[in-house]
Amino acid sequence: MSDDTAKFEINGKTVILPVLKGTDGPDVVDIRKLYAEADVFTYDPSFTSTASCESKITFIDGDKGVLLHRGYPIAELAEQSSFLEVCYLLLHGELPTAPQFAQFEQNIIYHTMLHEQFDRFFQGFRRDAHPMAIMTGAVGALSAFYHDSTNVNDPEQRMISAHRMIAKMPTIAARAFKYFRGQPFVYPRNDLSYAENFLRMCFSVPAEDWKPNPVLTNAMDRIFILHADHEQNASTSTVRLAGSSGANPFACIAAGIASLWGPKHGGANEECLNMLAEIGTVDRIPEFVQGVKDRRYMLMGFGHRVYKNYDPRATVMQKTCHEVLKEVGAENDPLLQVAIELEKVALSDPFFIDRKLYPNVDFYSGITLRALGFPAEMFTVLFALARTVGWIAQWKEMIEDPSQKIGRPRQIYTGEGPRTYATIDKR
Ligand code: SDX
Repeated sequence: MSDDTAKFEINGKTVILPVLKGTDGPDVVDIRKLYAEADVFTYDPSFTSTASCESKITFIDGDKGVLLHRGYPIAELAEQSSFLEVCYLLLHGELPTAPQFAQFEQNIIYHTMLHEQFDRFFQGFRRDAHPMAIMTGAVGALSAFYHDSTNVNDPEQRMISAHRMIAKMPTIAARAFKYFRGQPFVYPRNDLSYAENFLRMCFSVPAEDWKPNPVLTNAMDRIFILHADHEQNASTSTVRLAGSSGANPFACIAAGIASLWGPKHGGANEECLNMLAEIGTVDRIPEFVQGVKDRRYMLMGFGHRVYKNYDPRATVMQKTCHEVLKEVGAENDPLLQVAIELEKVALSDPFFIDRKLYPNVDFYSGITLRALGFPAEMFTVLFALARTVGWIAQWKEMIEDPSQKIGRPRQIYTGEGPRTYATIDKR
């Protein structure tokens, strides 16, 4: 990729390391032969300076606030594309032609049903189980139902498992919601769009069918686009690491869902809404911000490992938030007022300015999802539904990389040196 090299001197040894250049982004020092040649490891436990893989899917320039999927800016995709088209783009690398899209849409829309026996699986959970707990278990259980697409070495089975997961995730997510609510499951309908079908499975009840609203359906589809992929974040890295051992894709995605659940990652949207509700009114913001500066808690929905500028998804999310709230007649939602003022206060406070802390995708998503009718417990489930395509595209890319090996980090051991075992009567 480049003729540049980096010279590394340690313990009287000199190692010349290749420097790799991507399409964009910082150069990367290839340290793979460092241990063999210099007998040292590198130390970067949170991967702040480490590229864990080569990828062609998503690019982020965190300083400029740029996010591209296969080269296309996120704002253009959110404005002009559809979630299923973005799924195709992420999986195949190019936007589909009309016949390619029709075939892809058919593959997804006609595979939304779950094996009937699968529904009994939900009954094993406590009636008030958190929907993310249900998701982690249920998605892992897919590998017990679809044995014909678990051979990771067969390209056709890999694609079938990708289609299956994109198709069935809304059905599983809606069932997790219905179970949590204590309402009967609603079956998918093939004549509806992806987002419509999902909203209907969530909000239709036997006593009253769900009524489509194009503004809300479009918002749902756009929210899915905004969450579709985000290069090597914690959950995607988890999926890649799980998959590097050859584990089946359903199990790998379940691992990704578990990683996403944490409040520092996808769980932040739920925590952010709880935070806004706890602040409650605009006059309590200064006291809350002081608590953040005193390090008693974090400002949820703010900050990002990569973005040191506005998260471009947050810009689109904020606009979507206003559209949805206007449509449902909740423009004066007190939590929206708190969010707008909190953002203003934080963006003009040296604590946040100095640390380059800006709103991320989760800051406005909770208010929007609440206005769409979802309780906070469902927010991370919706993130997982949308991120499934990113996880699976990244998993496929890893499996198809000829240089791929099992992931196996090393460590700096700081425990006891060798010592002799003493029997219990001698301790
Ligand atoms: C997602 O990686 C991805 O791409 C993730 C994601 C995706 O699409 O996959 O974009 C989705 O996970 C978005 C992030 C959602 N999380 C939150 O909103 C939770 C709040 N944010 C923080 O927990 C934090 O900003 C992280 C976890 C997002 C990033 O953490 P880093 O990169 O490890 O940064 P850091 O903890 O080292 O923080 C640097 C400084 C510290 O202060 P100092 O010790 O240097 O004085 O900034 C401070 C931190 O204390 N800081 C915050 C803060 N975030 C960072 N202070 C208050 N509130 C915050 N939110």
